[in-house]
Amino acid sequence: MAAGIDDIAVYVPRLYLDADDFARLRGVDATKLRRGLGVHQMAIADSNQDPACLAANACLRIMRKNGLEPSDVGRLYVATESSFDESKAMNAYVVGMLEQAYGSGAFEHCGGVETKFACVSGSYALYDNANWIRAGEAEGQGALVVVSDIAKYDMGSSGEMTQGAGAVAMLLNDRPRLLAFDPRVAATSIRDEYDFYRPFGKETPIVHGQYSNLLYLIQVRKALEAYKKKALASGLIRLDAGPGADDSILDHIDHLNMHLPYSNMGRKALAYLVRHEWRGLPRWKKVIEEAGMDEPEPNDPRGTIESVLADGDFMRKDHEFQRRLTATSRFREVYESKLASSLIASSMVGNLYTASLYLGFRSTLEFEHAKGADLAGRRFGFGSYGSGSSAMVFSGVIQEEYAETVNRMKLEEEIGPRTRLSVEQYVQIHENRLSPEQAVLPPKEFVLVGVDSSPESRGERRYSYGG
Ligand code: HMG
Repeated sequence: MAAGIDDIAVYVPRLYLDADDFARLRGVDATKLRRGLGVHQMAIADSNQDPACLAANACLRIMRKNGLEPSDVGRLYVATESSFDESKAMNAYVVGMLEQAYGSGAFEHCGGVETKFACVSGSYALYDNANWIRAGEAEGQGALVVVSDIAKYDMGSSGEMTQGAGAVAMLLNDRPRLLAFDPRVAATSIRDEYDFYRPFGKETPIVHGQYSNLLYLIQVRKALEAYKKKALASGLIRLDAGPGADDSILDHIDHLNMHLPYSNMGRKALAYLVRHEWRGLPRWKKVIEEAGMDEPEPNDPRGTIESVLADGDFMRKDHEFQRRLTATSRFREVYESKLASSLIASSMVGNLYTASLYLGFRSTLEFEHAKGADLAGRRFGFGSYGSGSSAMVFSGVIQEEYAETVNRMKLEEEIGPRTRLSVEQYVQIHENRLSPEQAVLPPKEFVLVGVDSSPESRGERRYSYGG
């Protein structure tokens, strides 16, 4: 039985911090954000928004857009790493809000949980729900998988320039109009790591930035290798293996969507995967010739992440090699045709943690379609990464009738008119100095009204629909 993504809705807070304002506030060069990281604007949640109401707003949008009734939805999963309760699952909050719109008890039989594994948890949630459908358990119903996060880092930390907020709701069913998942190829890698984590009670993560960058690349590469084995074994992809063959698994994936903690991480990841996949192929000779430099090797034979990062000489040469590689015609062609469109939304919105990969997917659909590309039958590959750490690589094929759904995708309209925060407002919000009633924007859609502080009901949250 087929299973896949039928439609997608996005909810992004309408406040944003501009890269230039951030750069002025922190005394950094704005070019580092805009060119170095690909960050132009970062969406910031207002003081009356939390990840649960972002998720509920995305759900309401996808339900209304598709004329869904609660009885059409058999499961509602929320994947997040911005959880605010150790026990009560975020999907329960979302059900509570949706029932304000659809009536009390309307979602009584809609099962689900909150899933957690940093940014990769949304992909695990998608996979589990796709399998619920494949197993025939859905009986005609759909599943909503919502990825929702507020990416907030310590003030003054290097992560602060990679913040953002938002939610993406995906409708999964057995007759998907957008993308059908390829069966039996989803592959994972996992390793107990401390690249980025958020201990209980701490609002912001502890981050080892450069370590996390390299770990991301290694984990995604390992998952891609496992994907390749599965895709070849199942016959989904056939590589030309004859003498002189110049065929790579990446040639069989038409569009790539990578986890995007910041927009340029996508290009970094593509460059890393290309190096590993092309190195043994005839084309590599031409690439090296055009780059005008051999690929450097680490001086320290241990090859650990720590030894590589501490090897200043190698890091400098490797950086230069990467710069030259990404300027070659062969790389630029792959970048433009497979990846560039997925990065556009991330530059406008920033990091959405769990939702970043799926905002990227949505970005590819909208901006490739706008370019006039015919996506029907094209294979989309997904490279998902979550700190701590695990990666998942999987793929799917765009369906014949996709254009009807994608025609209606207009990210700017979906976000709505945005308000540029002053740096003073940003600092007030970041330091949690504003109560929900002091929100910068008037209440619209689901908003947080208050959090109880009385001893018997501490932490209870109340939400209302602001119209
Ligand atoms: P940093 O170390 O301050 O920045 O912070 P940098 O020195 O690496 O510079 C960034 C880029 O800007 C570099 O480009 C510089 O060359 C360039 P690259 O060499 O990489 O192509 N640059 C400039 N360009 C133009 N003009 C300039 C200039 N200066 C520098 N003047 C870092 C970067 C990402 C480490 C930091 O923002 C951070 O710690 N972020 C949070 C962690 C993170 O995002 N890690 C990514 C991988 S882990 C992950 O994705 C998981 C995550 O989503 C969490 C989860 O799973 O839940 C984070």
